[in-house]
Amino acid sequence: MHVRKINVAALSGKRVLLRSDLDLIVEHGIVTPGQVRFTAALSTIKELQAVGARVIVIGHRGRPEGLDASLSIEPIAKALIAKLPKETAQFVSMSNQKELVAATRAMAKGDVLILENLRFHPGEQKNDPVFAKQLAELADVYVNDAFGNCHRNHASMTGIALFLESYAGPTVMRELEALEPVRSVQSHPYVAIVGGKKISSKLHALTALLAGADHVFVGGAIATTFFVAQGLSVGASLYEESDVALAASLLQHSSLRLPVDVVVRGEDGTYRGILLEAIQQTDVIVDLGPESISHMRSAILKAKMILWNGPVGIIEEVASRVGSDAIAHMVAECSRGSVYGVVGGGNTVGLLEQLGMTDFVDHVSTGGGAMLEYVGGQTVPALEVLKLKEETYVG
Ligand code: 3PG
Repeated sequence: MHVRKINVAALSGKRVLLRSDLDLIVEHGIVTPGQVRFTAALSTIKELQAVGARVIVIGHRGRPEGLDASLSIEPIAKALIAKLPKETAQFVSMSNQKELVAATRAMAKGDVLILENLRFHPGEQKNDPVFAKQLAELADVYVNDAFGNCHRNHASMTGIALFLESYAGPTVMRELEALEPVRSVQSHPYVAIVGGKKISSKLHALTALLAGADHVFVGGAIATTFFVAQGLSVGASLYEESDVALAASLLQHSSLRLPVDVVVRGEDGTYRGILLEAIQQTDVIVDLGPESISHMRSAILKAKMILWNGPVGIIEEVASRVGSDAIAHMVAECSRGSVYGVVGGGNTVGLLEQLGMTDFVDHVSTGGGAMLEYVGGQTVPALEVLKLKEETYVG
């Protein structure tokens, strides 16, 4: 995809509104180390600082409903500031427009201001042009470096492009390049594995993946939604009622691979590996069963391209992360040779990081939902606004 690419060297002295991926895993106020989004954001900030840009970093964290101190950007800002040259960067909690404009006008070359969670403002998710214009007033140029949020039609992602010269940042450009082999389905057999909790957005992306991939394995709450669509009892497991009809419409797809067995946690807290038909009313599905993992292994061993997004079980508990751990091992073992392996999504990449396997795959994406939508060939709103006409493309 051709998008307007930023020429960093030309930004000396410019006020740059940098939309970063700051939606990171934070535990007890501390940013979990080693996250790819953190590394990507830091690298771009440093690159801009190095050419003497004035960098105004904006981003979101979580899904707050209004102002929610527990989802402040501050811990993330502090972690970034700690990695930047002394006294060049600061966190700004204020939201008063006049004060913000004044603060950006007082910046020296190489200064960095990191603003509070954009989603504290109702205009962000509504893509309110008034809010987008206010953001635009802070800078001379807009750089979208938040690939993981490009599927969101929000003020800081799309609305802003109406008011400010807009470009794709280095992280977005790296993602587009690394994901191109998957987006254009360059190799077969192509195996996609999709799990996780964000069911509604992923079920739509699945529709596109099913058309391109040879095998699409599903797990986690997405698989449970398919079980309900098949008329199976899922006990007390998590699924999305409003997506059952969509899941039902995809059931006949020839590349869809549903689990044949699962691990459940019973009412008494014990775990059992069982066939789908044996799920009891009080059982909660927590992982894939051994037979399902074995099916996946057979397909992965023959694959030439693998895409993985979303855990297939509850990875916070050791007893229910067996399936996800197994996939991580399989993908890591096959990638970086004759197989092109791509892994994306906060929790999925987090698991890979815990296992020390990020260097074993070809590309670790900063995107989860955004990655799925992009490789599935869907229209990704924040990339659309950065598109160039062929004849003017210079990147
Ligand atoms: C993500 O983690 O996928 C992005 O940060 C988008 O977050 P959202 O699903 O809350 O919009």
